[in-house]
Amino acid sequence: MENYKHGEDEEAGALALAACVSHIFPMALDAAIQLDLFEIIARAGVGALLSPSDIVSQLSTSNEGAGAVLDSLLRLLATHSLLTCSVSRLENGGTERRYGLAPAGKFFVGDENGVSFAQFRALTSWGEMQFRHRAYWWDMFVEVPKGDAILLKFILHNWSDEKCIKLLKNCYEALPNKGKLIVMDYILPNSPQTDIHAKYVTKLDVIMSTKLEGKERTKDEFETLATKVGFAEFKVVCCVYGMWIMEFIKSI
Ligand SMILES: C[S@@+](CC[C@H](N)C(=O)[O-])C[C@H]1O[C@@H](n2cnc3c(N)ncnc32)[C@H](O)[C@@H]1O
Repeated sequence: MENYKHGEDEEAGALALAACVSHIFPMALDAAIQLDLFEIIARAGVGALLSPSDIVSQLSTSNEGAGAVLDSLLRLLATHSLLTCSVSRLENGGTERRYGLAPAGKFFVGDENGVSFAQFRALTSWGEMQFRHRAYWWDMFVEVPKGDAILLKFILHNWSDEKCIKLLKNCYEALPNKGKLIVMDYILPNSPQTDIHAKYVTKLDVIMSTKLEGKERTKDEFETLATKVGFAEFKVVCCVYGMWIMEFIKSI
């Protein structure tokens, strides 16, 4: 199977089929979070590998088929690199899969405050998604507090170009000459790409444009906003986990 060579058409057909069932993965991820699967595996210790029945023994279920269902779920998470999987032959001729936390899966295990990507997943969940904006004590569309540098972190992608220009003008007014506005946001590639960051930011773009009045932007679109407002210089500084830092300099 592993050495089987796909024709180009076959690869395309498989991609199309995968797109048809792409809604299954988020459902599986939600189920894994609700069942505490990442936490259960993490509690077993660093590098631990658990079989589906090890995990079922920690769930409150009397369903005799739970192990098999869980195995399917865990295998799907492993194909998405959230879990590792090691397969061994049993004496009775069968096989057993044991699952461990992959580096990406560790992000779903709560830190000392119980915080993990599980909360972010709940926020982005389609059915439940509501952006509950926390109360703010200062309306940034009216005025922005003065400062040598201002940071806008995940703000611009919530808003339309018109609103962004209004906000950026307020930032411009609040900065001294040579002052700097630092923007942390995602950047869309100019043309659709298939890498992991592009897949993430294009999904976020759908969320921003359907649930809010915002959108993700390309580098050129950010630069256009900066120019329209009058910033003398715009530069993209660096990227971490696909999140970009940009600088808008008031005057050179
Ligand atoms: C997507 S959150 C980003 C929050 C934070 N920067 C972060 O990275 O976690 C957007 C924030 O903008 C705030 N906000 C929305 N409208 C605002 C306004 N008119 N003036 C000031 N803040 C506002 C919301 O209260 C919310 O905290």
